[in-house]
Amino acid sequence: MSGNEVFNPSPEFSSRAHVGSMEAYRDLCRRAEEHPEIFWAEQAEKEIHWFEKWSHAFEWHPPFVKWFAGAKTNAAYNCLDRHLETRGDKAALIFEGEPGDQRTITYRQLHEEVSRFANALKARGYKPGDRSIIYMPMIPEAVVAMLACARIGVTHSVVFGGFSAEALKARIQDLDAHLVLTADAGWRRGKELRLKDAVDEALKECPAVRDVIVYKRTGAAIHMQEGRDSWWHELEAQASADCPAEQLDAEHPLFVLYTSGTTGKPKGILHTTGGYITYTTCTMKWVFDLKEDDIYWCTADIGWVTGHSYIVYGPLSAGATCLIYEGAPDTPAWDRWWDIIERHKATILYTSPTAIRALIKQGEAWPGKHDLSSLRLLGSVGEPINPAAWEWYHRVIGKGRCPIVDTWWQTETGGILIAPMPGAVPLKPGSGTLPMPGVLAEVVDFEGKPVADDAEGFLIIKRPWPAMIRNIWGDPDRFQQQYFSRIPGIYFTGDAARRDKDGYFWVLGRVDDVMNVSGHRLSTMEVESALVRHPAVAEAAVVAKPHEITGQAVCCFVTLKLGDWDHHKLGLELRQWVAHEIGSFARPEEIRFSESLPKTRSGKIMRRLLREIVTTHTVTGDVTTLEDLGVVTKLAAQHDED
Ligand code: PRX
Repeated sequence: MSGNEVFNPSPEFSSRAHVGSMEAYRDLCRRAEEHPEIFWAEQAEKEIHWFEKWSHAFEWHPPFVKWFAGAKTNAAYNCLDRHLETRGDKAALIFEGEPGDQRTITYRQLHEEVSRFANALKARGYKPGDRSIIYMPMIPEAVVAMLACARIGVTHSVVFGGFSAEALKARIQDLDAHLVLTADAGWRRGKELRLKDAVDEALKECPAVRDVIVYKRTGAAIHMQEGRDSWWHELEAQASADCPAEQLDAEHPLFVLYTSGTTGKPKGILHTTGGYITYTTCTMKWVFDLKEDDIYWCTADIGWVTGHSYIVYGPLSAGATCLIYEGAPDTPAWDRWWDIIERHKATILYTSPTAIRALIKQGEAWPGKHDLSSLRLLGSVGEPINPAAWEWYHRVIGKGRCPIVDTWWQTETGGILIAPMPGAVPLKPGSGTLPMPGVLAEVVDFEGKPVADDAEGFLIIKRPWPAMIRNIWGDPDRFQQQYFSRIPGIYFTGDAARRDKDGYFWVLGRVDDVMNVSGHRLSTMEVESALVRHPAVAEAAVVAKPHEITGQAVCCFVTLKLGDWDHHKLGLELRQWVAHEIGSFARPEEIRFSESLPKTRSGKIMRRLLREIVTTHTVTGDVTTLEDLGVVTKLAAQHDED
């Protein structure tokens, strides 16, 4: 593949697609751009159930926006109740546990489960405005937990099961949550991921938590604290299945999801109800071209935004059948995913470039053993997809028949902003292609002026869209400063990009100190703060280095306090320490010890130089502001000695 090939939609695909031509796509964009109020009001009326309507679609007082304010709706009602008549017996979830256990849950059954659990929460006094933490494996009950909270107006915050007790504690405290929903453990590579133990550890310093509700998944022996902990199944058994959905304001906080920013403290991204559910439902149809008989599989974990928007809210609101799988792709063998696709006849697969690269490494024989002919559409998310991974995904998995939708978005954007509508937009491997209707994306310079075609610049979005971030939980100043100060009143994505002569966007990566490891966001400062909490560490600087599978990997430069340290042993210990402080996905690839770190005269660590050292093993950039040039030369030379 030359790298600049264009793949046109096939006539068969286009003829069946929701948006089947460039004219149709351009028409949607024109209407959304010219009359956003009318366009979004039409989409909201068509796609979503409202108990009461709004008076106008949006109010924009940068950085704050309201969508459909005054209207009343409920995200869980949209995902469940409104389907009962037409899709009651349709599978909402097809679940496969790592050990091989399977369950199919219809919309009617899911509605009943959610209602029962919502009543159990109500019985314990939870009501609109309260906050919960969800720390669960990838099992249907995680979805039940989210929807039950949404049903009664409790704002949830899902914490990825791979996060440590430390990270969990910080999130519980920041959110001031009183309720934690968890499980004894989950299955991961044949081992138990002991979630309840981590909750117990975290709660030693979270006195505000009144209730911990525990789902029994593996049967692991766990400690249950009298008066605080209760079993999910016991509460559910006592609860009635009649629980009308709360009629909530469109701007009612639906969830907070913590993500890494440029400081050591994760930020709680706030999303609300009406705009979010409207936008995720629309993009589900536009980008995944969802049809009634699709079996849709998004391999993300619900602990990330992809899981929120494109496993739970978008697909269920659109009435999809969603596959969910609990475990690892290599358990029991590297064909687990292909086996799942074959057995369940999945039609849409949505995954990350990191996963694709890991699967490529295992060879074509694994997918070759399975019939993947049910697939009709493939998706990618989380990081730029390199041409080699794109080509393999297209040829080996999609057999050259399936379009690939490369979807660019962020925790903050709530839904996909740049991606092809597969029946309309020709694909260019590596490009997210064109923006969604109403998304006014542009590439600009430092002053906010558009750059020329093909020139690099900052990716910005000029107008609000319904699923956009509403605030950072408890920190409106940081919200304003982080996203709306670089160019006043305009959403700054933090990504670099270029736009080619056809208007296609090519996202190049972050321009701040945020790393992207396996499509997971991690801030250099977060890892640095974790490292300096270790008693041996005096100072630490963290940079991302390119990695064949995970895209980027964490590389740490560490100076030690005085002492006689065994560098090899300490290196291993520090890697483990970071995993303990943040989570195993953050475990550094490399720890490099140094006598000092390169700094500017004002004492700021020059990460740019360290980045250069780990990428090119030399330093060519401007070093005139360096305090001690010897440090850099030594660090660069060290690589050759290793
Ligand atoms: O740098 C971009 C990259 O991931 C960042 C957002 O990360 P997060 O909030 O964790 O959300 C990930 C899932 C939506 C972006 O700022 N990114 C995400 N998707 C793509 C991407 N980079 C290039 N191409 C993509 N398709």
